[in-house]
Amino acid sequence: FCGTDVVKDEPTNNVPDLIFTKLGLQLHRRDNHPLGILKNAIYEYFDSNYNNQFLKFDDLCPIVTTKQNFDDVLVPADHVSRSYNDTYYIDAETVLRCHTSAHQAELLRKGYTNFLVTGDVYRRDSIDSTHYPVFHQMEGVRVFSPNDWKDSGMDGTSYAADDLKASLEGLARHLFGAVEMRWVDTYFPFTNPSFELEIYFQEKWLEVLGCGVMEQEILKRGGKTDNVAWAFGLGLERLAMVLFDIPDIRLFWSTDKRFTSQFTKGQLGIKFKPFSKYPPCYKDMSFWINDSFTENNLCEIVRGVAGDLAEEVQLIDNFTNKKGMTSHCYRITYRSMERSLTDEEINELQWNVRDQVQSQMNVELR
Ligand code: DAH
Repeated sequence: FCGTDVVKDEPTNNVPDLIFTKLGLQLHRRDNHPLGILKNAIYEYFDSNYNNQFLKFDDLCPIVTTKQNFDDVLVPADHVSRSYNDTYYIDAETVLRCHTSAHQAELLRKGYTNFLVTGDVYRRDSIDSTHYPVFHQMEGVRVFSPNDWKDSGMDGTSYAADDLKASLEGLARHLFGAVEMRWVDTYFPFTNPSFELEIYFQEKWLEVLGCGVMEQEILKRGGKTDNVAWAFGLGLERLAMVLFDIPDIRLFWSTDKRFTSQFTKGQLGIKFKPFSKYPPCYKDMSFWINDSFTENNLCEIVRGVAGDLAEEVQLIDNFTNKKGMTSHCYRITYRSMERSLTDEEINELQWNVRDQVQSQMNVELR
């Protein structure tokens, strides 16, 4: 895969088979898929506003080194995102990229100064209608030279920050029309200052993307000491769910014609019509946790057993007794997007989940 053999039997490997099956599917490269339609709409915006200057990469290998994923973008050594609980490791130095920022540094080093990187990214996470362990991001980078800002009366950083905000406000209007927007200050290891853009959509403030002025250290290491740059990263599913009215993130992976046939190349405005809503089934399970328990590990087991039939895993009760033992009760929602499930098959899933949770997590079922 991507010119490398994927090692599966490393002791440090925490990538389950379900995740391996997603490698290479590249939903963002399908012109009739909502993610491909959205990617193309963003391309169109940059092409027409920047005279086709932005180079586009959407086929970079998602298997990257920890150096690319973390060190090159200045993620601190003790940052949570480096943990085995948050990131899929193939071996101790190789991960499934957890963000498209993993490619910033190498592309800068190769001399590119205006580029967009789209790709599948991987994160261990909880289970609900907006979280899936594989999703898609687009990264944008634009590098400026002293000539660009010298007549502006501004320093390079302010110039880049102004240009960044104007570009991304334009992008939001291109995608969402005349919406209300606001900028929120935030923190990312790779940018300073850092911002989030939020838009007011369907009575809620929605976070659309993260961005900022690239840390000088990243440019310096890329051989661009005198330059200033901006960068942004956005999640395609999050935007596509809003733009196409897609209610559950699992649908992006559906091969059901009733889903796939509703989308057409070049048509961003189309609203998805749910073909049917099959009934959910709830199953609760309680157990005494131990020190190594994490919700991400539980969710990995649930997905391993139930795959895309798992709709949500929710902590509904949590208490510690006098002896200091902590009990968790989780409610698992099973539902297919495509058909009705039988009681029999759900019971079997639930017994399997209980079995594996007990044997793999060493918790005591109650
Ligand atoms: N990598 C960030 C994430 O996955 C998104 C991001 C934020 C990318 C700011 C950027 C940026 O390039 O400047 O959450």
